[in-house]
Amino acid sequence: MPHATAGGPGRIHGDGSVTAHAPAKVNVHLGVGPLRADGFHELTTVYLAVSLLDSVTVWPDEGLSVTVTGEGADGSVPTDSRNLVWQAAELLARHAGVRPDAALHVDKSIPAAAGLAGGSADAAAALVALDALWGTHCTRGDLAGLAARLGSDVPFSLVGGTALGTGRGEQLSPVLSRHRTDWVLGIAGDGLSTPTVYRELDRLRDAGDLPPDSVAGPADDVLTALRGGDAGELAARLANDLQAPAVHLRPELRRALGVMTGAGCLGALVSGSGPTVAGLLPDADAAEETAAALAASGAFRAVRAVHGPVPGARLAG
Ligand code: C5P
Repeated sequence: MPHATAGGPGRIHGDGSVTAHAPAKVNVHLGVGPLRADGFHELTTVYLAVSLLDSVTVWPDEGLSVTVTGEGADGSVPTDSRNLVWQAAELLARHAGVRPDAALHVDKSIPAAAGLAGGSADAAAALVALDALWGTHCTRGDLAGLAARLGSDVPFSLVGGTALGTGRGEQLSPVLSRHRTDWVLGIAGDGLSTPTVYRELDRLRDAGDLPPDSVAGPADDVLTALRGGDAGELAARLANDLQAPAVHLRPELRRALGVMTGAGCLGALVSGSGPTVAGLLPDADAAEETAAALAASGAFRAVRAVHGPVPGARLAG
């Protein structure tokens, strides 16, 4: 039986370029266990891929180069080997035994350092696009192994949909929930660094200001709510252990959460390590209306109405 490949030469455009898209994510449940010896925390999380997409276009060139447009093009997103797409290219080239020769262009709609896994989405899209460009014919399993080496959220950015994440977040089991959920994302001005928020959680736990282990706990209730498709049930189950440390570092997030619920969201939580706040709405119309009201409130730098689940990294038509 032929291997299922992630891409294929059929997607190479007439100019020799290949484009892939990958989605942002919201953690509808983020249970954070104690700090492990390797510096990561043991997680029980439920990822949801949402309809805010970055795209990565790659084309043949000598050596590697990265350019960025859109969110973070002001210089906050690096264009050298600190960028995860650069690291993805080096890793795939080494894995496949090819020369890392490509120009990569990242067009960002997902804000950086926002708790939406934008960098992970870019890395996943780069893997898929370069696999097609270089004809390296990796299986989805190969790409998942490379993704896990790039970052805890990158394997999810590859698969998308809805998934339960364990380990440091990279061990995934798909969640069979096809119910559409509608959200507004309230994006704050300045990014928050993920390690800083995890460190603040450890500090608050060590100081006895938070219980020593996860408050969000297991994900069973949120999984039941997702499978049931009742937005009100899901709203009541939203939980994120990184919310308390994120709010501690950015007290204005408490107000942002209040603005969301005041604007009619069934529930709201900090997305991942923040500072984006995600609010759940009963349907698409309500999400659009609430997004317009929130944009007018001036409480956020930007507001987006999105829905999930959507697919993970994939080649553009
Ligand atoms: O895996 P990733 O590079 O996205 O992780 C960034 C940082 O977030 C880690 O260096 C660590 O400080 C923190 N982290 C953690 N536990 C996890 C995932 C990330 O402490 N499960």
